[in-house]
Amino acid sequence: MSYQNILFHVEGSVAAITFNRPEKLNALNPEMLREIKEILVEIKNNPDIRALILTGAGRAFIAGADIQEFTRMDALAAREFSRAAHEVGFILEAMDLPVIAAVNGFALGGGLEMALACDLIFAADRASFGQPEINLGIIPGFGGTQRLSRAVGKVRAKDLILTGRTVEAAEALAMGLVARVFPAAALLDETRKVAQSLAQKGRVALAAAKHAVDRGFDTSLATGCALEIDAFSLCFASPDAREGAAAFLEKRAPKFA
Ligand code: COA
Repeated sequence: MSYQNILFHVEGSVAAITFNRPEKLNALNPEMLREIKEILVEIKNNPDIRALILTGAGRAFIAGADIQEFTRMDALAAREFSRAAHEVGFILEAMDLPVIAAVNGFALGGGLEMALACDLIFAADRASFGQPEINLGIIPGFGGTQRLSRAVGKVRAKDLILTGRTVEAAEALAMGLVARVFPAAALLDETRKVAQSLAQKGRVALAAAKHAVDRGFDTSLATGCALEIDAFSLCFASPDAREGAAAFLEKRAPKFA
């Protein structure tokens, strides 16, 4: 399958999607969203892929929705655009494999929102983050008002969303938006190493862990703990739980299915 706006690469059991409109700083347009959705569905249905990296070509991860599109958008078209973007966010979250955003540069607007729908955000030291929509007379439309506050708290989310200011990688790390920061030249190699190590872990356990954290976040402690009990017990339906314990006791590395 050939794509106009993204690149797709698989190395071993790790897949990588590269947003590829570098001349427009990888601004998201409806066609690019369609391509991302299509490839995510393909990845989801491929059991040989066990970890996914999202990154951007050139200076940006994604510098936001394509502002050019806004010039011809009415409310109904905007609703469709936002809905399509949300669909991609939910597909990313629902994937059973871990997804890492390797943020190489600008992650603004829809770029930050795309990263927020991933399980982990790693950043290059030159990366920057923000929700500048307010400066365009609009608001985030790809989950920013919801996922950013869940990630960093309401106070910090409002600081970014209401002022539209941009934060550098160091500040993003300090506010808990980003899990790790690497020198720009090392970002992809370091991200690949982490992805490869995740790909060696138990598939069922990884899925159970990510979904327990995500689903539990939106609910009460008691309901979240009930979700955890179910997710924990589900792990014992996989041979990986036996293998993990046996490998520990036999002082060897586990070999998960
Ligand atoms: N939508 C459409 N085009 C975009 C874009 C976006 N979100 N972000 C960047 N571009 C385009 C620019 O128009 C420019 O195209 P051109 O060369 O045809 O004029 C090209 O990408 C390079 O961007 P430029 O602004 O020249 O780079 P810069 O280094 O001076 O500034 C940014 C970088 C990210 C600060 C600036 O591009 C910017 O503010 N982008 C918009 C960010 C935003 O508001 N995102 C939220 C959208 S809802």
